[in-house]
Amino acid sequence: MKLSITAKLFAAVLATAMVVALAMGVAAHVNLTRGFLGYLNEQALLRLDAAVPGVTAGYVQYGDWTFLTRQPDLWYRLLRPLTDDGGIDTAVISPGRPPPGISELTGATRRFTLFNAQRQRVAGFELPSPQGVERAISVDGRIVGWLAMAPFQSVSSAAERRFEAAQTRASWAVGLGALLLAAAIALWASRTLLMPVRRVAAATHRLAAGDYETRVNEASRDEVGQLSLDFNRLAYTLQRNEQMRREFMADLSHELRTPLGVLHGELEAIEDGVRRLDAQTLRSLQSEVATLNKLVSDLYDLSLADVGALAYRKVDIDLAEPLRATAGAFAERLASCGIQLDLRLPPGPLMVFADERRLQQLFNNLLENSCRYTDAGGRLRIHARVEGRNVLIDLQDSAPGVADENLARVFDRFFRVEGSRNRASGGAGLGLAICSRIVEAHDGSIAGRASPLGGLWIAISLPHAKL
Ligand SMILES: Nc1ncnc2c1ncn2[C@@H]1O[C@H](COP(=O)(O)OP(=O)(O)OP(=O)(O)O)[C@@H](O)[C@H]1O
Ligand SMILES: [Mg+2]
Repeated sequence: MKLSITAKLFAAVLATAMVVALAMGVAAHVNLTRGFLGYLNEQALLRLDAAVPGVTAGYVQYGDWTFLTRQPDLWYRLLRPLTDDGGIDTAVISPGRPPPGISELTGATRRFTLFNAQRQRVAGFELPSPQGVERAISVDGRIVGWLAMAPFQSVSSAAERRFEAAQTRASWAVGLGALLLAAAIALWASRTLLMPVRRVAAATHRLAAGDYETRVNEASRDEVGQLSLDFNRLAYTLQRNEQMRREFMADLSHELRTPLGVLHGELEAIEDGVRRLDAQTLRSLQSEVATLNKLVSDLYDLSLADVGALAYRKVDIDLAEPLRATAGAFAERLASCGIQLDLRLPPGPLMVFADERRLQQLFNNLLENSCRYTDAGGRLRIHARVEGRNVLIDLQDSAPGVADENLARVFDRFFRVEGSRNRASGGAGLGLAICSRIVEAHDGSIAGRASPLGGLWIAISLPHAKL
């Protein structure tokens, strides 16, 4: 059975209130019954003590107990307490005695039994032998009998029954009160406490159905407020991821379509005889294929990096070596672009625990960018050094640079500063994304800043591997 939280709350409050009411009822009942019995027995005891002089007087008057066998109705007269003047005769016989000081309404005298000195029952209640409460009847220092009482074990008077009925009525009233209280609390809780939870639940439902724009407006500072805050964050992340996925697909198809379209057009032209299949055409075709090839292999690298499967074979190496090798490989291209290279390395080794091939890929991408995005007659300064526990590599080039608002985004996939796409030299916008994955895989950090030379400053920090 599916129970709503409101129903469960209602049941819990009701059960608690009922149990408390029941326990209090039982406790009151037990207390009162016990107390009442105790009161009755106390009264009876007082009555027993008060009866002793009368019974003694009866014995003294008749000399033995046989008068009680002959005149059983004298028994109850005997039990009446003596008058204040202590008169014996009148005590027993006079019918107009003043009302007793002790309550006769308890019915205690009906529970009195008289035993003779030999402990045989003479008169009164059918008690087999004196037990519990008894008083000796002595005349001239000699015990002539026993006055005993059977204590009250239970209360069954009409008053007591009335009390019980009142108690039951009160219990019903308390039960009804508990029911109303439980309903009120459950209603209040569901209104004030559960309503916000329901709103979050409904929003979650919408989010699960793909509505990433859904948000919860919950300003409370309690757990539900925190939940709403987290929910909104989750919705925002999902929305952003979905948007990034869409952009990625759009960029990817665009990047693939461009070289493929060029290839297709050139091949058609050759087929139609518009263009001749000579060395130059082949070179052009080759370059489009190379572009496609680079794009696909970059995407492959990135997707491997995303699933953490880009292979790294790390060893302790001197970072200066791949840096020098890459700079050497680019020297000619940089010179032909009119870019002056300034490579500054410390005399000692720059030890890092790294994959040399990946580091080469990193520097290749960065130098490639500097070649592409630095105007002729510019400069490229590469400065590497050890600082604290890190090896720092700074690549600073001259104009053009990247606007401040775009500096953080240059590491996003397919990001290109507006216009770069149209430059003949422009790439797909994956180079720096790969660079950032490589640096992260080496537990380092990479950041883009404005270079003092007027262009872009790429600052890399890698953990120094001490020998
Ligand atoms: N040294 C630089 N100077 C100025 N702008 C740069 C520099 N390096 C990168 N950029 C800008 O950052 C963008 C992203 O660079 P990234 O290397 O990721 O992609 P790309 O070079 O355009 O393409 P790919 O590297 O995939 O061939 C570039 O398009 C360019 O606009
Ligand atoms: Mg690049």
